[in-house]
Amino acid sequence: MPITRDAVAADHAHLLHPLHHPSLHKTPKVWVEGRGAIVKDADGREYIDGLAGLWNVNVGHGRRELAEAAMAQMSTLAYCSSYAGSTNYPAIELAERLSEVVYPSINTFYFTSGGAEATDTSIKTARFYWKALGKPDKTKVIARRRGYHGLTLAAMSATGIPAFWPMFEPRVPGFVHIDAPDPYRFANDDPTITIGVAAANQLERAILDEGPDTVAAFIAEPVQGAGGVIIPPPDYFPRVRAICDRYGVLLIADDVITGFGRTGRWFGLEHYGIEPDIMQFAKGVTSGYVPLGGIGVSDTIREVMNGVPPAKRWMHAYTYSGHPTCCAVALKNLQILHDERLIDRAAALGARLAAGLEALTPIDGVGHVRAQGLIAAVEVVADKRTKSPFPAEAGMTQKLTDAMLERGVYTRVAMDCICIAPPLVTTDAQLDQIVDTVRDAVTQVVGAMKKSVSIPTPS
Ligand SMILES: Cc1ncc(COP(=O)(O)O)c(C=O)c1O
Repeated sequence: MPITRDAVAADHAHLLHPLHHPSLHKTPKVWVEGRGAIVKDADGREYIDGLAGLWNVNVGHGRRELAEAAMAQMSTLAYCSSYAGSTNYPAIELAERLSEVVYPSINTFYFTSGGAEATDTSIKTARFYWKALGKPDKTKVIARRRGYHGLTLAAMSATGIPAFWPMFEPRVPGFVHIDAPDPYRFANDDPTITIGVAAANQLERAILDEGPDTVAAFIAEPVQGAGGVIIPPPDYFPRVRAICDRYGVLLIADDVITGFGRTGRWFGLEHYGIEPDIMQFAKGVTSGYVPLGGIGVSDTIREVMNGVPPAKRWMHAYTYSGHPTCCAVALKNLQILHDERLIDRAAALGARLAAGLEALTPIDGVGHVRAQGLIAAVEVVADKRTKSPFPAEAGMTQKLTDAMLERGVYTRVAMDCICIAPPLVTTDAQLDQIVDTVRDAVTQVVGAMKKSVSIPTPS
């Protein structure tokens, strides 16, 4: 193995990274090992993996069983086509197993290699469904500001974080964004209704403005992850479901982060007692050990897809759909989640995390704390009363990330929200250490910031 200095020079010479810019990559961390909730860098320093990789390593690092599942399948049949006319045992078994754990009305699955491909697949499937029903103009997609659905061209157009757009315009036409149901920041100017209802009403407004006959689907993450962990009020999704039903708009649940136990339930919308028409997943389906994603469609959609004449069939395909090795690893991963009762564990650990973070609320700079299962965020603000953020020049994202890292916790900060989503196998002691680290990092960074830019202390 090259020594780290040479490896980094080779990286600089030959690799483009997600969100690439050399200024962000002068001294990258070179990760070399992982075990449970711990990751180790090339200098031998250990960190708690506060974001479970990228919200995906649900069963934790270093699982030999998953490596063995891959090896067994690879040495038998690593790959075969899954195009209509071909199939394989791991893909069949995984689809059958998913039908047991996913929302009851969703029993049919298509596999992709990741989340963005799943988004594209969901959107194409929604359009296909309406065309098959003789409504070819129902093509638009309503999504949400601060929603994240991946970065292929269509997924990027659904994503509601404008920083991702300018250098790649024009976006795919036909995407409309409404506000996030953010309990902390949503501007509700009608005191007679709750934030959840007001935010859902924006969906109805958008459908009526666009014309219900032009809208195919509404896509939403049960918890908006990369947008800063926005957990909607409990009355939001039931009303969204009712609005979608009223106007004939498909509800797509983007469970890419919230799937496979992250929120303390198998899938995110279970918290609200409703079901989507299409759901999409990735990340936790294999705990990140191999790339896999996909969508599940309701029985109603499946019937429509199966009912078209061959000439109008679903002409959508990926070489790696139904990849036997990835499906075999996913099956073993689902078995671990089940056997070790990790969904219950996420709920129990989540209660501990929520209590720990709540206790940080009085600290200067802590504007809002939120958690659902093992996905949480602490939003840092300059002024608690006005909720105003620190100026962009303050560089809070980097400062908070670095302060967490210096104290031994690796995570990401999105829009001044410190995101926390560790593996579901994190120990109580590690979880408490994450909370302590957030407290110390915020105290130090906000304290130093206020001294240097003389921002008034909030009342
Ligand atoms: C909710 C959601 N959807 C889709 C994606 C895109 O997944 P991928 O990066 O695998 O394309 C992500 C990635 O973070 C995500 O969080």
